[in-house]
Amino acid sequence: MAAQKRENFGGRLAVILAMAGSAIGLGNIWRFPYMVGEHGGAVFMIVYVVCTLLVSLPVFLAEVMIGRRSHTNALDAFARLSRQHPFWRAVGYLPILIPTLIASYYSVIGGWSLEYFFKSCTLTFVRTPADQVSGLFGAFVASPWAPVLTHLVFLGASVLVVAGGVKSGIEKFSKITLPALFVLILVILIYSVSLPGAGEGVRYLLHPDWSELSPRTFAYALGQSFYSLSLGMGCIITYGSYVSKKENILTTSAGTAISDLLFAVLAGFAIMPAVFAAGIEPGAGPGLIFQSIPFVFAKMGADLPLVSSVVSIVFFLAIIVAAMTSCISLIEVGVAFLVERARLSRRAACRVLFGVCGLLGVLCSLSFGPLAGLQIFGRTVFDFLDWLCSNILLLLMALLAVVFVGFVLPRRVPQDEFTSRGRYPFNARIFPVVYFLIKWVAPIAVVIIFFTNFNL
Ligand code: PFF
Repeated sequence: MAAQKRENFGGRLAVILAMAGSAIGLGNIWRFPYMVGEHGGAVFMIVYVVCTLLVSLPVFLAEVMIGRRSHTNALDAFARLSRQHPFWRAVGYLPILIPTLIASYYSVIGGWSLEYFFKSCTLTFVRTPADQVSGLFGAFVASPWAPVLTHLVFLGASVLVVAGGVKSGIEKFSKITLPALFVLILVILIYSVSLPGAGEGVRYLLHPDWSELSPRTFAYALGQSFYSLSLGMGCIITYGSYVSKKENILTTSAGTAISDLLFAVLAGFAIMPAVFAAGIEPGAGPGLIFQSIPFVFAKMGADLPLVSSVVSIVFFLAIIVAAMTSCISLIEVGVAFLVERARLSRRAACRVLFGVCGLLGVLCSLSFGPLAGLQIFGRTVFDFLDWLCSNILLLLMALLAVVFVGFVLPRRVPQDEFTSRGRYPFNARIFPVVYFLIKWVAPIAVVIIFFTNFNL
C-alpha cells in the first residue's frame, strides 16, 4: 500500500483477479451462508442481489474512481482529491480503523478453518458417524484454549507474511487455490443436493417467504454485500490506485462484483441443502459451515472414504489460503499506516498489530465459550464487533465515498474516470445512470438502511 512508485496492474484479467482475490474470502463461504440462514433464505438472497447491483456496485465504482484519480492509498486519497480539506483528511483515518477491527475476528474464523484442516488431515470426518459430526463444532468453540490458540496461530502466520514481505508468494499461491476452491464448492454442492432431505434446503433458497422480509433483511444484506466486496475499508480505493488509466473500470468492477456474487451463491447452494439434510437449524449462526460441511464429508466418507478425505483436506486448505490473503490485506492497512505515519519500523508495526488484533480476537473467540455472558448492547463481543463493522462502520465509510464522488468532486472527474477520458463510448452513454446511482440512490439507500440498524 505504501509503494512510492505505483505500478499498474498488467491488464484487465490481472485487475479482476487481484480484486477478486481480496473480495473472495470467508465473507462468501463462511459469512454469506449463515446470513442467508439467519435472515430468511431466498428472500435474503434476492435482497442481496438487488443491493449488490444497485448500491454496492456504484459504491465499488466510486471507490475505484477515488483510487485511480488520486493515485494513492486510502489514507491520503480523500485528502489529496479534496486539496487537504480538514474534514476529508480526517475521513482518511476511518479506513485504518475498520480493517484492523475486522482482522481481529476474521482471524478467529481463520483459526477455526485451521482446526478443521487438522481434523480433515486426521480423518476425523470420515471416522466420526455422520449424526455426531456437527456436534464437534460446539465442543471445539466452547473450549477455552483450542480456538484461542488456532486464532493466534492464524493471526501470527498472517502477520509474519506481512512482516516478511512474502505477500506476493501467498497471492500467487491463491491463484491456484481460488479456482480449486471454486471447483471443490461445485463438487460439494453436487454431493450436498443429492443427500436425503436436501431438497428442503434447495426449496429454502429458491422459494421466497415474503413474510420474512423486513428492514432488517436490507440492513444485513447491504452490510454483507459491502463486507464481501471489501468496500468501505479503503481496500478497493488502494487497488483502484493501481488500475491503469486506460482500463475500463466498468468491466473490471462488474467482473469482480459478479464473480464475488457467484461464489457466495454457490456456497449458499452447497451449504444449505447439507444444513437441512443434517437437521441443523439454518439460523444456527457463525458455526453453520463448520457444522454442515463436515456432515457432507462424513456421508461422502461412508461411500468413498479416500475421495472424501482428499476433498476435505484440499477444501479446508483452500479456505485457509482464501482467508489468509484477505487477512493479510486487512493487516497491511494498519501496518502501512504505522510505518508511514507513526514512523515505526515494519517489524514493530507488525508487533503492534499482532498485539491489538490478537487481544481483541481472544475476546471474540472466548465469546463462543467462557465469555458468552459478556454482552455489549445485548450482543456477545464477537457479534458486537461484527455488527459494528459490517452494519455501521462499513456503511458510514461507503456513504462518505459516494458523497465524496457525487458532491465534492466536480462531475467531470467521475465522468473522466468512468469513461477513461472518453475512451469507452458505451460507458459515456450510461454515465448519467451510473452517476445518478452514485449521487442519489446509493447515499439515500445507505442512510435509510444505516438508521434501520439502530432499531433492530
Ligand atoms: N471481502 C473479504 C471476504 O469476503 O472475506 C473480506 C475482506 C478482505 C474485506 C480484505 C476487506 C479487505 F480489505
